Amino acid sequence: MKNIAIFISGRGSNMVAIAQQVQNGILADCCQIKLVFANQATAQGLDIAAKMGLPTACLPSESRKRADHERDIIALLAPLQIDYIVLAGYMRLISPVLIAHYPQRIINIHPADTHQHQGLHAYEWAWQQQLTHTHITVHYVDSGMDTGDIIAQTTVDLQGAASLQEVEQRGLAVEHQFYSQVLKQVLSS
Ligand code: GAR
Repeated sequence: MKNIAIFISGRGSNMVAIAQQVQNGILADCCQIKLVFANQATAQGLDIAAKMGLPTACLPSESRKRADHERDIIALLAPLQIDYIVLAGYMRLISPVLIAHYPQRIINIHPADTHQHQGLHAYEWAWQQQLTHTHITVHYVDSGMDTGDIIAQTTVDLQGAASLQEVEQRGLAVEHQFYSQVLKQVLSS
């Protein structure tokens, strides 16, 4: 049984999807959520996590140096014996300080092929490029922007999508299934 911390910055829909799989789905026999962490006090996902009965914490990162903020995160996580940090819409670059503490133990989901698109607004990019397919990538985190080793990718069919909203809906529906499937593989090994 692995201990995980889920990091969010906003809505938290991927966090909810993972938490449901931990509570009574494909992740029930391989991990426990020891903490849902946010770097923004306004993250809606924090309230949702608390209502689901999950432990939550927030250390605001605004106007803090990344290394200092991450040293506080390391201290917060230390008593929880965290095996893996699962980024789910965590919108802050991770520095070498946290990576050195959790080498190949920080995982992220990115809503594009990380070789084609990095950073924010990946669905806007897919919509503007009028892609017929886009990708979802789950990858290990290094100190670059979406540059870490790819663990798995899957395809989202965008044919006939009539709006950016529809592109996002189709993509998120895939993300919510795929992230837990990939986490199961990683956390069971
Ligand atoms: C998700 O689409 C996730 O893949 C993306 O942010 C959204 C968060 O939504 N992450 C990135 O773009 C990382 N570069 P959520 O808070 O509802 O899970």
